[in-house]
Amino acid sequence: MILVTGATGNLAAAAIDHLLTRVGPDRVVALARSEAKAAPLRARAVAVRLGDYGDPAALAHAMDGVRKVLLVSSNDHGNLLTHHQNVIRAAEKAGVEHVVYTGTAVRDSDASPMSPMLTALLRTEDHLRSSGLTHTVLRNTMYTDALPVFLGADVLERGIDLPAGDGRIPFALRREMGEAAANVLLQDGHEGKTYELTAPEAHTIEDVARVLSERSGKPVPYTSPEPQEFTDGLRAAGVPEPGAALLSAFVTDMREGRYDIVTRDLEDLLGRKPASLDASLREVYRL
Ligand SMILES: NC(=O)c1ccc[n+]([C@@H]2O[C@H](COP(=O)([O-])OP(=O)(O)OC[C@H]3O[C@@H](n4cnc5c(N)ncnc54)[C@H](OP(=O)(O)O)[C@@H]3O)[C@@H](O)[C@H]2O)c1
Repeated sequence: MILVTGATGNLAAAAIDHLLTRVGPDRVVALARSEAKAAPLRARAVAVRLGDYGDPAALAHAMDGVRKVLLVSSNDHGNLLTHHQNVIRAAEKAGVEHVVYTGTAVRDSDASPMSPMLTALLRTEDHLRSSGLTHTVLRNTMYTDALPVFLGADVLERGIDLPAGDGRIPFALRREMGEAAANVLLQDGHEGKTYELTAPEAHTIEDVARVLSERSGKPVPYTSPEPQEFTDGLRAAGVPEPGAALLSAFVTDMREGRYDIVTRDLEDLLGRKPASLDASLREVYRL
């Protein structure tokens, strides 16, 4: 059986969708925090085990009979390392054969304003490697699906005002990263490997604006304000903390090129080219 954590989230949902095209629902177990949120999984005959990453007893129960685990990184930034260690320890105790862990593909993380979170993700990798468990690490780039959070709901009417400069990002679709994770769980040969799941080329936000403009038929201008002006604007617009600071920190990493890592790993794991920027944006924005 394959246990997928974070099963009520988007990445895990994509992985489960792909797993269910290849194996029966009796081979998939979902770890969720909420019975109600997990109801659609139960409706597809996927067994649901309730547990929080902060609850070792529930994690021990969740691992019963499990051979492989997809550990989707937590978004609880204050507790990342402890939560991930709890899952890895529970997997060790249960004799799990293979843990696949999803982190983030960034460079130069010490210089990032997101450094505490990125360090916790890297220390999770270290913990996994020293655990003795058979493992695979998937470092995921920024999701194309995350762009609406940065660009705002009315991007086609107002254009893009984001201090991302000419930083390059190899945006990839979350569903394709979920599919790649499912393939790693289902195939042999990925043991001990670390993959960086990125598009085969990186793009600027100017490129994003150009595609949105071409596809929508509306001019989508891109301006890159001073970072402080942007953060002040978020706060003035009533965006609550820590959201405003988090958004600004992600954009700093975009501008300073920390996402600018390009590999063929996603293409190799999918067995085809990932969706282009044009196709991805049409999908995300329904254009
Ligand atoms: N945005 C990006 O471009 C990007 C890129 C790379 C990686 N990531 C990270 O990748 C991860 C997966 O992405 P996603 O889109 O699937 O995120 P998501 O939709 O927010 O899903 C996160 C999942 O983790 C679960 N979770 C959070 N804290 C938990 C805890 N303490 N115990 C058990 N489950 C917990 C959530 O459960 P509930 O449904 O109960 O809240 C949810 O199912 C996230 O951590 C995200 O930050 C993001």
